[in-house]
Amino acid sequence: MSTLAVLGCMWGDEAKAKVVDYLGGLADYVVRFQGGSNAGHTIHHAGQKYVFHSVPSGILYPNSKCVIAAGVVIDPVSLLNEMDALTKLGIQFEGRLFIDERAGLVLPLHQELDSSAEAGLGANKIGTTQRGIGPAYADHTARVGLRMADLLYPDWLSSRLEALYKHHKRELDPALVQKLLQIKTRLEPFICKADNLLQEAYLEDKYILFEGAQGSLLDVSFGTYPYVTSSNTISGGICTGCGIPPRMINKILGVYKAYSTRVGEGPFPTELFDATGDRIRIQGNEFGSTTGRPRRIGWFDAFAAAYTARINGLDSIAVTLLDVLSGLPELKICTGYWIGERKLTAFPSHPMELQAVVPEYLSLPGWDADLSDCRKLNKLPKAARDYLEVIQDLVERPLELVSVGPDRSQTIAIKS
Ligand code: GDP
Ligand code: IMO
Ligand code: MG
Repeated sequence: MSTLAVLGCMWGDEAKAKVVDYLGGLADYVVRFQGGSNAGHTIHHAGQKYVFHSVPSGILYPNSKCVIAAGVVIDPVSLLNEMDALTKLGIQFEGRLFIDERAGLVLPLHQELDSSAEAGLGANKIGTTQRGIGPAYADHTARVGLRMADLLYPDWLSSRLEALYKHHKRELDPALVQKLLQIKTRLEPFICKADNLLQEAYLEDKYILFEGAQGSLLDVSFGTYPYVTSSNTISGGICTGCGIPPRMINKILGVYKAYSTRVGEGPFPTELFDATGDRIRIQGNEFGSTTGRPRRIGWFDAFAAAYTARINGLDSIAVTLLDVLSGLPELKICTGYWIGERKLTAFPSHPMELQAVVPEYLSLPGWDADLSDCRKLNKLPKAARDYLEVIQDLVERPLELVSVGPDRSQTIAIKS
């Protein structure tokens, strides 16, 4: 098996980075294929906490090379800040980081547009991370955006920036051109054609790990539109994001939290507004890694999870943060949605429908034991094993990993 995709399959923050870190030790390449600095990927290792936004999490492994592929939008200022902070922690980038020349650029203009669009939407706002992601992808699709390779052609860069600012009816500050040219000096050694790199690596039988950002229910086409991000987060996005064919994706692992969370606006059928939700938020430290916002909490939604398992073509699943549920007397899992007398047969695509659904729940007994030291499935309390089995059955995908704490070691691998 030479390539593996690790994808968030709900509304983001499923602990993808923890899973990438656990599985990434042998990876020759770790690849981000979509999204941008809206991602906040946390890894706890050897007493140190790392939060990655644009840099692939594999950078912690000295033998892994990291690729930021064409489908990513890069805020070069934030990327350089992130690289500087990691360099201070002893991480080397030379010869290890590869940035596709086609990746889009996120400029300060895009952050301003993100904030003003949100303000303009008022009560209809999306609740974005305000990192400029939506406007940067919009400009890319409108063919007025700038890409990494544009940094290499100063005259072209200036005229494209002029045109972009004119498109948005704004005045270009010439200092921005100078700033981007300075940025170019630092980023130029990393710019490449990542499709070639990955295709060659694949032919050499290298182990390539694709690190998803956000989650399937935030996918711009198949998520809970319009309350989504602006990229294709599902497995199909790997091909368009990297410039590689579907057959190069050998295995797809979907990551689900043992409960649900969501940051930002939009319908959330299993959301908890009570003390149980507050307890899970505190216990799971559910505050955004990028914005610090408290995450909304809900029960595990197996109806939504089965939908995302299908659209991604998952081979197996990882269930994370199981330890957070210890101490709750009763746990619920959503098994289906009803609207009035009608039981839905497919996940709703319209927010009016999704916000109208009444979840049907299966109630399961909880457990009290602390799970954080468990390293084998049979060491988990029976109620926890039953809970996992129900998830596996409802999502119809084999369980491969269980995470019981933030550290790399706090992981249970399940032999099939
Ligand atoms: P990502 O965006 O999907 O990589 O996830 P985030 O990093 O945004 O959020 C996951 C959070 O849960 C991080 O703070 C992790 O350190 C933490 N975490 C990961 N796995 C576990 C786990 O099994 N148990 C607990 N308690 N925390 C975990
Ligand atoms: P990781 O990779 C959770 C959410 C925002 C908002 C919507 C649109 O850490 O899982 P955007 O800034 O992308 O235009 O915001 O998407 N969102 C995330 N939620 N985890 C993320 O990334 C997210 N990235 C964006 O909160 O609801
Ligand atoms: Mg996150």
